Amino acid sequence: MPGAIQAEGLVKTFGDVKALDGVDLEVPEGTVLGLLGPNGAGKTTTVRCLTTLLRPDRGRAVVAGIDVLKHPDAVRRSIGLSGQFAAVDEYLTGRENLQMVGQLYQMRAKAARARADELLEQFHLADAADRTAKTYSGGMRRRLDLAAALVVHPPVMFMDEPTTGLDPRNRQQLWDVIKDLVSGGTTLLLTTQYLEEADHLAHDIAVVDQGKVIAQGTSDQLKARTGGERVEVVVHDREHIRTAAALLDKYSLRGTGQGDTTVEEHMRKITTPVSGGAKLLAEIIRELDADGIEIDDIGLRRPTLDDVFLSLTGHVAESAQSDDEEAAK
Ligand SMILES: Nc1ncnc2c1ncn2[C@@H]1O[C@H](COP(=O)(O)OP(=O)(O)O)[C@@H](O)[C@H]1O
Ligand SMILES: [Mg+2]
Repeated sequence: MPGAIQAEGLVKTFGDVKALDGVDLEVPEGTVLGLLGPNGAGKTTTVRCLTTLLRPDRGRAVVAGIDVLKHPDAVRRSIGLSGQFAAVDEYLTGRENLQMVGQLYQMRAKAARARADELLEQFHLADAADRTAKTYSGGMRRRLDLAAALVVHPPVMFMDEPTTGLDPRNRQQLWDVIKDLVSGGTTLLLTTQYLEEADHLAHDIAVVDQGKVIAQGTSDQLKARTGGERVEVVVHDREHIRTAAALLDKYSLRGTGQGDTTVEEHMRKITTPVSGGAKLLAEIIRELDADGIEIDDIGLRRPTLDDVFLSLTGHVAESAQSDDEEAAK
């Protein structure tokens, strides 16, 4: 089965900036692709090309089975787009915003009203439905923007940095909403600067840098390439270090070429690459305890987007901070 989203060799130049330098993507139907990359990597440009807002200089794209360059109108009718900069009208209420979108899609007034109510409920905005969007918090605006993209039932959705600038609680809420959406069978392409977000939401992750996809795979595969997750243990007694290392080695992720358990004798520290996160950590603590090995410290070190970038490109990604500050203004 062909992907719900396919792009081949997308190139887009702005003056002397090569925003896209041959982007290839494929998103199988019903799955989520996370387009992960730092500021300026080309994420928004990719989304704009795939959603007909921008014409690539070169390359081709098919979305929902329709050629994007040949039939942009038909593509537009099959997709939903939730933008990095919300397409919400500040001076309309939440309800009016959603009804307006329905009318743009030529729904009957009654149907548009019913759909608006349904979405306001689903996105926890019912209580604020009759307030102007101007009075909404950042999180509420994002949810309204997302709801607006779902007024008609698009088989393919694009979300450009849906949670950038949100606080952790709002980010979590939005993740839940997105997960619900995807469990309903929607194909989703999502851009993000956060590995953690791609990790939570995406089946597959494509890492973009300087207009190119530089790596693609599941989150575990990408993490493994960066050295992956590690458990670090500091034992209390130096004489326990070998027993503890042997125990930890059982949990070590082998065959990744990343090396196995390492012991730093003088620090009483053992490090082992793992996959399985917090659950595994609890198990290791129980086993060490059962063996009577006292520990001074134990922790899970997860690779960050910076680690992934450093390992893939040899240069540090620009921090996500700047964009957060931007969005917070
Ligand atoms: N309309 C535009 N005019 C000029 N340069 C642009 C335009 N849109 C994007 N760019 C440039 O293209 C590159 C990729 O931008 P963008 O796709 O917005 O990246 P991202 O969304 O990953 O932050 C950046 O260098 C950006 O400055
Ligand atoms: Mg962007």
